[in-house]
Amino acid sequence: MEILQTEIAVAELRAATLHASLADVSMESMNLLNQVADTYPDAISFAAGRPYEGFYDVAQIHEYLQVFCDHLRTRVGLSEAETARTLFQYGATKGIIGDLVARGLAVDEGIDVDPSSVVVTVGCQEAMFLLLRALRADGSDAVLAPSPTYVGLTGAALLADMPVLPVRTGEHGIDLDDLLVQLRRARAEGKRVRACYVTPDFANPVGVSLPLADRHRLLDIAADEDLLLLEDNAYGLLSSATDRPPTLKALDRHQRVVYLGSFAKTGMPGARVGYVVADQRVTGTSSGEVLLADELSKLKSMLTVNTSPIAQAVIGGKLLAHDCSLVAANRQETEVYERNLRQVLDGLDRRLEGRAEVTWNAPTGGFFIVLTVPFTVDDALLEHAARRHGVLFTPMHHFYGASDGFRQLRLSISTLTYERIEEGLDRLAALIDEQLGERPGERLAQFDASSAQEGAGESSPGEVA
Ligand SMILES: Cc1ncc(COP(=O)(O)O)c(C=O)c1O
Repeated sequence: MEILQTEIAVAELRAATLHASLADVSMESMNLLNQVADTYPDAISFAAGRPYEGFYDVAQIHEYLQVFCDHLRTRVGLSEAETARTLFQYGATKGIIGDLVARGLAVDEGIDVDPSSVVVTVGCQEAMFLLLRALRADGSDAVLAPSPTYVGLTGAALLADMPVLPVRTGEHGIDLDDLLVQLRRARAEGKRVRACYVTPDFANPVGVSLPLADRHRLLDIAADEDLLLLEDNAYGLLSSATDRPPTLKALDRHQRVVYLGSFAKTGMPGARVGYVVADQRVTGTSSGEVLLADELSKLKSMLTVNTSPIAQAVIGGKLLAHDCSLVAANRQETEVYERNLRQVLDGLDRRLEGRAEVTWNAPTGGFFIVLTVPFTVDDALLEHAARRHGVLFTPMHHFYGASDGFRQLRLSISTLTYERIEEGLDRLAALIDEQLGERPGERLAQFDASSAQEGAGESSPGEVA
């Protein structure tokens, strides 16, 4: 008997038919950096922007859960069944710890917000996406952000189809004169600039903090130009300083600031809990006047439904265990970060002084330092550094969407011990000396000058060292 064979078409998708973000070079950054780290597990990593792991203890998670459940029972007055339901069931889209988040903001930041304007999100990342999604009404909308900027913002904007217009970064953070230039240019081109994203405290990747006078001026600009400011404060609380400048949100008198919070560095990244404070009024909705937080919550209900109540309970318990002060909760960690930062800055001084063309900034807190060098820093150099020298860093071009930053690298100080920092800096110095010893431009061969802006393209053909 003859068997008829029909041809079955196997599903195949063409990249060009998928969302444009998938083809964007920024989307590869995380994967690429993780790949290099995975391939060279023995390399000492100044790349990871992760919190310190030395104090981790699984028992803490149980304790925090317990503290939160006791709070539900004794202070909120829930029955045992209601307490169980709070953890086991779907929950309110805005979250179950908005009141504790608001208390924490009051205790640590002097920020006074009503819990109804808080949406607890799956990390700060979801908050950034929700905001940009809500603000992007049509193709003329755009958001300003300092260049270089945190890749999470760039990625969220790509997913939300929101163009990011770069603003120059000065010695202390976003350059406010350039902000006005870019704003006016964008408007002249018919763009509607919805907001400006900023990280005033210990920015990622540049590490620096915005001076108080600039904070006031930024708020004035926002009021004069009818702009929202999206303030991301992932690192600000990790400081022992008693004279920390107030956040933009604490200074804000006109609800110009949407505040983005993350518990990744102050709580634990594994919980994936962040939040947004959006107390702006939205008029003309089908329900009349509502808070921006309500509109974000509507979007969230169709994205992640609600943030895991179990994860929120762990973070809520951590807040409760420290009277809602994350500054207090992180005293030990902050000591490590500040000590590490000093050690790395001193270590760079000792190892690299006299190399006139190698410079670095000196942030007063946070996780990051930026080094500027007279040779090209690309992914090929990172791979070489890992393989030949056993040291990792983050090439800064990843924070410029590969359009600039090819002579800079970011060092993160957060995860290493004293000995690893000393050894890592020795290795880094050896890499730098090796690169400085070369003929100019020698190892620029694999660098595609056409994709880079000025300065980075002065390459001549050759081999990767
Ligand atoms: C500037 C900035 N914002 C936010 C975050 C944390 O985001 P998430 O809460 O989604 O982990 C980070 C972490 O690297 C960051 O550097």
